[in-house]
Amino acid sequence: MQERKENKNWAEAHAQAPTGEPERQYYFMDRAKEKVAALAEQLGRTPTFHVTTFGCQMNARDSEKLCGVLEYAGFASVEEENADFVIFNTCTVRDNANQRVYGRLGELKGFKRKNPHMKIALCGCMMQENTVIEKLKESYRFVDLIFGTHNIYKFAELLNAVYESEDMLIDIWQDTDKIVEDLPVKRKYPFKSGINIMFGCNNFCSYCIVPYVRGRERSRSPKDIIREIEALVADGVVEVMLLGQNVNSYGKNLDEPMSFAELLREVEKIEGLKRIRFMTSHPKDLSEELIQVMKESKKICRHLHLPLQAGSNRILKAMNRVYTKEQYIALAKHIREEIPDMALTTDLIVGFPGETMEDVEETIAVVKEVAYDNAFTFIYSKRTGTPAAAMEDQVPEEVVKEGFDKLLKVVQDTARERVKRYQGQVMEALVEEINEQDPSLLTGRLSNNTIVHFPGDASLIGKIVNVRLSECRGFYYVGEIVE
Ligand code: SAH
Ligand code: SF4
Ligand code: F3S
Repeated sequence: MQERKENKNWAEAHAQAPTGEPERQYYFMDRAKEKVAALAEQLGRTPTFHVTTFGCQMNARDSEKLCGVLEYAGFASVEEENADFVIFNTCTVRDNANQRVYGRLGELKGFKRKNPHMKIALCGCMMQENTVIEKLKESYRFVDLIFGTHNIYKFAELLNAVYESEDMLIDIWQDTDKIVEDLPVKRKYPFKSGINIMFGCNNFCSYCIVPYVRGRERSRSPKDIIREIEALVADGVVEVMLLGQNVNSYGKNLDEPMSFAELLREVEKIEGLKRIRFMTSHPKDLSEELIQVMKESKKICRHLHLPLQAGSNRILKAMNRVYTKEQYIALAKHIREEIPDMALTTDLIVGFPGETMEDVEETIAVVKEVAYDNAFTFIYSKRTGTPAAAMEDQVPEEVVKEGFDKLLKVVQDTARERVKRYQGQVMEALVEEINEQDPSLLTGRLSNNTIVHFPGDASLIGKIVNVRLSECRGFYYVGEIVE
């Protein structure tokens, strides 16, 4: 894919920019600050920005980094997409994520017609696909900047370039081994935060596009991770979510290899940190050491997301998941024996090539046996370039729909049963926000990830309170604070 051809004048104008990172990006953030100040003068108001996240928690964390740069440069954040600088941080894990981006781009075009100062940027996983770039170049010429997942750390530099050029700017890298630390971040929540512990994925599940758009697995150094969490805690964060496509293989490529369980032990020691979550765990790499660390921990939340994907060994093999149904069930049982209050959740795919109703029945049987607290059920989406896309026997839509509906019903019935088992008990909840429907209520999250609504005021947001789980309503609770 193409690299941006550095305009000679541009390179000359910034010849004094430092070559080391993150200094280089701070240089460009300062240049951007000058440009934003000039734009403010011209507009007679502070220029605004909006970042829309389309993907997973990692995508959301990337958006916080983009917001960090834009705020540093002097833009003001606004809720609506009709802003002076708009970024769509895209996802391409399933086709419907892509379609949403094209739909929303149409709306942006309308805004831009009315606001000639508006700049539109696209980044994230979808931009790593050649076909997408071709389509954008062809039919979406009003987009000003396109960059990918590997060079997001260079956003300040690209931001400057946008204001110094009239052309559509495209900068996509194939891969990177670089991890740039210490760039600004603007968190969505003051009291909780995601933390990247690793980037990329080496698993190549046959249906999945993530390894192609996020590159090879690389872990951040434990020192950098701990330092970042300590700084977050000093800034009011009480809960962290350690992020990686497969956190269980953390640390393998470090100069001094370290296991994920060892990293967790270090994070646990951070004073003032109250809760630790992580995502995602691949069943094939979940170690006994990790189970013991979770069991002994006072801070690791009682929630483990353990994607099963399918319950038929034939399909699991074709998916390249590297475990059998029997191994998965044994692992889940072992975890429940060791840590009985651990909530287990999962991801399931229906309609993988060659999947029959009998295969779906096998998935349903595993769901019943493991009794998940919650499960995300997806319809298989064909991703160009993945091995599964080239497989014969793509399943007809009606068959997929039938299997999906059947599975979803079992998933929901099971989850409802599981969630209500704590009715009447008192549990700790981290207060996250004012309830959207009823502002007299607060919304909190239990350690096991279940949501509870209860009366209270905004001063409690970010605090951990004891809540009586008075009434279970399907997948959540209504309760009250107990002193
Ligand atoms: N790394 C994580 C998952 C990341 S993608 C893991 O391995 O668990 C999140 C979920 O999207 C996956 O667990 C899978 O269930 C689903 N998914 C990925 N590719 C998909 C596809 N092509 N069609 C449908 N669902 C898909
Ligand atoms: Fe995709 Fe599999 Fe990697 Fe998860 S582990 S991101 S499903 S390839
Ligand atoms: Fe989507 Fe990329 Fe996450 S494809 S799920 S945003 S890693």
